[in-house]
Amino acid sequence: MKKLIIEGKRELTGTIKISGAKNSIVALIPATILSDGKCTIYNVPNISDVHRLIDMLKILKVKVKFENETLYIDSTNSINAEIPEEHATKLRASYYFMGALLSKYKHSEISYPGGCSIGARPIDLHINGFNKLGATTKIEDNKYKITAKKLVGTDIFLDIASVGATINLMLAAVKAKGITHIYNAAKEPEIVNVSSFLSSMGAKIYGAGTGEITIEGVDKLGDGIVEVIPDRIEAGTYLMIGSLLGKNLVIEGIVKEHLGSVITKLKEAGCDLEIKGSTININKVKNLKAVNVKTLVYPGFPTDLGQPMSALLTQCEGESFFEENIYENRMRHIKHLNAMGAKIKLFDRSAIITGKTPLKGRNVVATDLRAGAAMLVAGMIAEGTTVISNIEHILRGYENIVEKLSQVGASVKIMEE
Ligand code: EPZ
Repeated sequence: MKKLIIEGKRELTGTIKISGAKNSIVALIPATILSDGKCTIYNVPNISDVHRLIDMLKILKVKVKFENETLYIDSTNSINAEIPEEHATKLRASYYFMGALLSKYKHSEISYPGGCSIGARPIDLHINGFNKLGATTKIEDNKYKITAKKLVGTDIFLDIASVGATINLMLAAVKAKGITHIYNAAKEPEIVNVSSFLSSMGAKIYGAGTGEITIEGVDKLGDGIVEVIPDRIEAGTYLMIGSLLGKNLVIEGIVKEHLGSVITKLKEAGCDLEIKGSTININKVKNLKAVNVKTLVYPGFPTDLGQPMSALLTQCEGESFFEENIYENRMRHIKHLNAMGAKIKLFDRSAIITGKTPLKGRNVVATDLRAGAAMLVAGMIAEGTTVISNIEHILRGYENIVEKLSQVGASVKIMEE
């Protein structure tokens, strides 16, 4: 197991370049098997989830080359094969192979997906949607076996605007016979990224990024090309760290529209952010003000930034109210923040955070990816040394985190346990 050692309170100056979005690339890679040809994906982050998914492509005999942040993928001779447990359980996004394999081969066999333990995270909406398109799903020895004689376009209404279900059903519907409407679709930017990739292969998809997506099935999908959008969650995390420690800190390569709710909220707290095209200049501010944060589906405040934001709220004068509305178990970082000196009263899925409290470095644990990000924010501003264990979680979603932070003046290093 690896640990992150942080010496807090370092002033940060310089430029941090944002990488391609984890939650885009983990869908774009499975989508490549829908092509009967070759795909090129630019701006690919070098994170462990990408390597896990490349392993799965290789099981399907897809040829993959990953160099200079670019994936060259050749699915010409791909086959259908079961994605075994030791792979599927490594990350939640393995479930995108369900929609892609079902779409291409009318059959997929995948073990239960993995993913951060932030709630039950069922996939009923995915399965119900596949079945509405004409598939039959059986669960046998921890595997989903999904088969369809043929897939026929239909209307699908999602009970929850689920990111994963929206993407998975787009993958399943692009080669179905006829028209599919997905209502109450998720609007996250990653969905638009996947939609444009599928369109580059010849898919007919309209309305991605809105609550209603229309898909006209096609028989064949050819070569595909796409650039991964910048990671708005990585960017938001560094914006929060910069708001506490930055001195002319520049976050480069963002899409400001993807960060609307986050920038608005940080400015409401008094953060000094100056947007210039695709960069944001940040300077730390002494007296940040308490604000209320409720996580919602896009374009609301993203659930993935709720945990790091709660660490920032410990440094805001007054009582902040923080509420997590997407997952039922995404508050496990609170006890570690309190152990560092924060003053947080925790209720079921909400918390009252009283600031400003000085934080003291200590040994903490990353219970999941974004809880790890919360520990990172806290450790960066704490007095003394913070040691974060289980940082494999963090390394899944933050490319080159030690290099990016060290080069702007942070004292962070990885220690093998
Ligand atoms: C994606 O997860 C992201 N992961 C998550 O990021 C992100 O938090 C989430 O979207 C919401 O934005 C990836 O893209 C790999 P959902 P996903 O389906 O698709 C419930 C991170 O830190 N639900 O939108 O799994 C579900 O339990 C990760 O990068 C059902 O009930 O999220 C949750 O409460 C964490 N049934 C809510 O909907 C379903 O069939 C939203 O989930 C599907 C979801």
